Amino acid sequence: MAIRNIRTEEDPVLRKVSRKVENFDDRLFLLLDDMRDTLIKSQGIGLAAVQIGILRRVVLVKFNDKIIELINPEIIEREGSQVEAEGCLSIPHKAGKTLRPKSVTVRAQNRNGNWCIYKGTDLEARCFCHELDHLDGKLYIDALAPGEKVYFTRDYD
Ligand code: NI
Repeated sequence: MAIRNIRTEEDPVLRKVSRKVENFDDRLFLLLDDMRDTLIKSQGIGLAAVQIGILRRVVLVKFNDKIIELINPEIIEREGSQVEAEGCLSIPHKAGKTLRPKSVTVRAQNRNGNWCIYKGTDLEARCFCHELDHLDGKLYIDALAPGEKVYFTRDYD
């Protein structure tokens, strides 16, 4: 297991579309374990594989200190809307208010390849949307609410 470097905004890899995971093998498990170490070290609440330069549809989210592994995730239901501040480990020291659904339902495989359903509201919904966007080369700065701008913060120091 290892902590991997987090790619930042100017790295073109963050704009690429990640590929579906087909093989649930040792390579995937190593990636998941490294992502877990990297997420814990960075004190973030979500990490997509592309952020460490791996173009695979793999996301980790950390809700209430529990880390969930999402493989080939997709949002299958969206409800309501919210405008709240969001940051990204790949865009340090900045934040911006995004327009997101109030709650979402996500379908994803776990490391054994089994499909699971997750529901998230408020922060969890924002986090699911944010991380899944990474898999399609999108950053939260693309989802800013009308009239909102990215601003500097010290929250992510
Ligand atoms: Ni991010």
